[in-house]
Amino acid sequence: MKRLHLIPLLLFGLTLGATAQAATVDELLAEYRAAGAGEFSAGRGRALWLKEFPGEDGQARSCVTCHGRDLTRPGRHVKTNKTIDPLAPSVTPQRLTDRREIEKWFRRNCDWTLGRACTAQEKGDVLSYLRQL
Ligand code: HEC
Repeated sequence: MKRLHLIPLLLFGLTLGATAQAATVDELLAEYRAAGAGEFSAGRGRALWLKEFPGEDGQARSCVTCHGRDLTRPGRHVKTNKTIDPLAPSVTPQRLTDRREIEKWFRRNCDWTLGRACTAQEKGDVLSYLRQL
């Protein structure tokens, strides 16, 4: 009987998480637009996710290298071998809820993968892709 009371609480928690994610992503997208980006495309975000760039070690690099292709599944860090929780917000609700985290990882991961910073357009496209997963 008691356990039933937890269901509305759980649903409430999930809704709050989804709202925080939507607000954070909307805010970032608005900033990227203000920085000169055009319309965002989840399809282009996905294409960037899969695109391979030549690494300085001669190995091809992409976002898939650490996060994998199926973002509802855990990834594995190519250098440290540590497991990375799934990026899909439907599986890991904390994803895309903290703008400082998002920007920090964009900075590191774009530098490593593309050999340069991602543009506002690229970040917006990737967020549009990730938010729907
Ligand atoms: C060298 C390994 C590696 C590669 C390659 C990589 N990432 Fe990551 N990424 C990480 C790690 C480690 C984290 C943080 C660990 C965690 O949050 O579980 C992370 C976290 C993120 C996050 C934070 C999400 C959130 O809100 O928690 C985003 C966004 C992200 N990566 C995007 C990208 C994109 C876009 C690419 C390709 C350009 C990429 N990553 C390539 C290792 C990588």
